[in-house]
Amino acid sequence: MAPVTSLSDSVQQQLTSAISATLPEATADPLLRRSDRADFQANGILALAKKAKSNPRELATQVVSQIVTGDVIKDIEVSGPGFLNITITDKAITENLAARYADTDRLGVPRPERAGTTVIDYAQPNVAKEMHVGHLRSAVIGDALVQLLEFAGETVVRRHHIGDWGTQFGMLIQYLDEHPHELDHKAAEVTGEEAMSNLDRLYKSARKLFDSDEEFKTRARRRVVDLQAGEPHTLATWQKFVDESKIYFFSVFEKLDMEVRDPDIVGESGYNDMLDETCRLLEESGVAVRSEGALCVFFDDVKGPDGKPVPLIVKKSDGGYGYAATDLSAIRDRVFNLKANTLLYVVDARQSLHFKMVFETARRAGWLNDDVTAVQLAFGTVLGKDGKPFKTREGETVKLVDLLDEAVDRATTVVREKAEKVGLSEQEIEENGQYVGIGAVKYADLSTSAVRDYKFDLDQMVSLSGDTSVYLQYAYARIQSILRKAGDARPAAHPELALAPAERALGLHLDRFGETVLEVASAYEPHKMAAYLYQLATLLTTFYDQCPVLKAETPEQVANRLFLVDLTARTLQRGMALLGIRTPERL
Ligand code: ARG
Repeated sequence: MAPVTSLSDSVQQQLTSAISATLPEATADPLLRRSDRADFQANGILALAKKAKSNPRELATQVVSQIVTGDVIKDIEVSGPGFLNITITDKAITENLAARYADTDRLGVPRPERAGTTVIDYAQPNVAKEMHVGHLRSAVIGDALVQLLEFAGETVVRRHHIGDWGTQFGMLIQYLDEHPHELDHKAAEVTGEEAMSNLDRLYKSARKLFDSDEEFKTRARRRVVDLQAGEPHTLATWQKFVDESKIYFFSVFEKLDMEVRDPDIVGESGYNDMLDETCRLLEESGVAVRSEGALCVFFDDVKGPDGKPVPLIVKKSDGGYGYAATDLSAIRDRVFNLKANTLLYVVDARQSLHFKMVFETARRAGWLNDDVTAVQLAFGTVLGKDGKPFKTREGETVKLVDLLDEAVDRATTVVREKAEKVGLSEQEIEENGQYVGIGAVKYADLSTSAVRDYKFDLDQMVSLSGDTSVYLQYAYARIQSILRKAGDARPAAHPELALAPAERALGLHLDRFGETVLEVASAYEPHKMAAYLYQLATLLTTFYDQCPVLKAETPEQVANRLFLVDLTARTLQRGMALLGIRTPERL
């Protein structure tokens, strides 16, 4: 299906040619924006006039005289010094929407011709550790960006940089070796929850022994050396922890209604073979230098509280590699093997200094440059209702799973209250409870700008009114119910019909979907997609108040309004899917 030129783009094109006909040497484009006074307002004329040393009002009048009105532009008038107010014809609105409607897959959203490859690093929990609310954000934001970028035409490679390596495994491996029966089962035999409780039990027992038994401690330390040397039996035991953890991770991602694929999980250990070479390259090029036995990279603007420079340590003085060496190796892999143009990291803002130093090091080494860039999408903290970092009443970090279960419970209650009226079966109630609960958690996360902290407030999240996913899901379900009730009437566009103001407002917003996708994907701002969808649902509510659908005046008007709401539903569904949120048919 052919992409659809949005109305704002076609107005923009007409303005651009009108301006170059008036002022051949003009370079700037007029800036089109939405306005309360008209459908669009162009406000770049003033600047153009200044440059050309001509009178803004005169220039504006000349530009207007070049515009052919009728087809798309109904009316264009000069307002104030150099502003142009533009009104679109009803016919152009309906025709544009009809073209979007015909493209079931993409709703007319174009695919940019020269898209690149983005490697996105997100959803990166740690082996043998419970996932907490901090891991929620990376997963939710990252998954939305994967969908948004792919829809916008980018080639996306997903990487889950799980924490699966380090000295902490020595103790665990040694313990499991001495108590082999403790993880003695087949993967298919345990649930995610059991897997996590196995790991937790093992961790606690190992820790207890480590703290009380000097000889065990010595054996555990020796195991770290074996692990780093890649001793086969030690590696095999380590693998058991990784596998057990994956059972748990996958269960959480499933609960989150999120696809995480095994081959995309390339944890810290995945770069072990590259660490030596990474360090050698950095040292040979002089990017890293020896300092007190360690291999370090220094930065003029990174200093500790004592004013002394704080280096990025690539190799410790004992020869061990840390988090930075792994990340630098991952950059080489992503740039040279995966051929990325963009490296995107969805990681907590508290790791910003780490990434700043890692990216700068990679730039000095020439691995990153003007053509291959790295960005950290640093997100803020999830806060409790009290505005402090989210903790249980006992002051412990909140388990992600508990939180998701509670969201689904609350949502199920909300769904159940209306279920009888809608005639939902028990199975539908449960399914919808999940879609609403998980959607609510995702939407709350995605509807505020990622850098900001947000309060985790389940009551607010599952509320039926206000800026919530439930509100959007109800808007969708309500349309489906109208379409079911339509009987023989079918949605069909009638461009010959005059539109009511609420229809025009809804229609113009629907036409903006493609622009919104591209904008959101290029600036990594899913909250703007959430805002777009909320606005869409709000315009739909106004439309319902003012424009009867099934009881409209003529059969043509019924068909046209059915077409408008159907396109609204498809746009809501597509937009919400891009955020990872489901739209139940009946709610
Ligand atoms: N596993 C880390 C954590 O839980 C996040 C990893 C982020 N990604 C990276 N390439 N360092 O904090």
